[in-house]
Amino acid sequence: MKSDNNVKKLPKHIAFIMDGNGRWAQKRLLPRKVGHKKGVDALNALVENIFDMGIPYVSVYAFSTENKNRPQEEIDALFTLIRDYFVKVIDRLVDNKVNVRFMGDMDYFPDDLRLILQSAENRCAKFDEKVLNIGLNYGSKAEIIRAVNLAVKNGVSVTEESFDKLLYTDGMPPPDIIVRTGGEKRLSNFMLYQAAYSELFFTDTLWPDFDKKKLEEILEEYSKRDRKFGKV
Ligand code: FPP
Repeated sequence: MKSDNNVKKLPKHIAFIMDGNGRWAQKRLLPRKVGHKKGVDALNALVENIFDMGIPYVSVYAFSTENKNRPQEEIDALFTLIRDYFVKVIDRLVDNKVNVRFMGDMDYFPDDLRLILQSAENRCAKFDEKVLNIGLNYGSKAEIIRAVNLAVKNGVSVTEESFDKLLYTDGMPPPDIIVRTGGEKRLSNFMLYQAAYSELFFTDTLWPDFDKKKLEEILEEYSKRDRKFGKV
């Protein structure tokens, strides 16, 4: 932990449900895709800050299994953003030794995008100190059902330990903190199994406005929470 912040107890893993991009744009009479673009800028800045603070694992919900029901124009805009992000930012992520990994069913994506994602994952696979885990076509129920099917298919006897290994988050600690921006107070099919003992934070701030200062407020409150994990 850096000496210039007075946060006492840092999480190892922080996860974000990045909600409110559309409303951010609509409030400014801009197309929703502009909100998503601002959302990517916010994510970029925040991820660097998080790693600089000494928090090694970040997870984000970038595209849910349910987002597939949005108008095709918005889905295309999101695909373009994700494509551009990895084409533009991958060298920087590699320079900073960030391990980028994905959770979700990648088969849904067009071939070119899938290849870009695969190549990003391959280039970062050797890094293990900083992990950026991105939910793409991700849904927690689908993840759990996939894990159960893998267990059945491979004859794995299911324990908490063996089941953890069948989830997309294999090898990662569960999130200590889950933050949802944008005012809604629900998990919306995000990391439901991993969230068993996560501290939940809900803020009205729309995702494009979520910055280092807002993050520090949450970390400050987290450091005061008493995590009992079922004990007294
Ligand atoms: C929710 O806002 C946000 C999304 C559905 C997408 C979030 C995606 C990004 C920030 C881009 C991520 C890209 C990369 C490269 C990781 P909303 O549209 O539901 O907002 P609203 O509730 O105000 O309508």
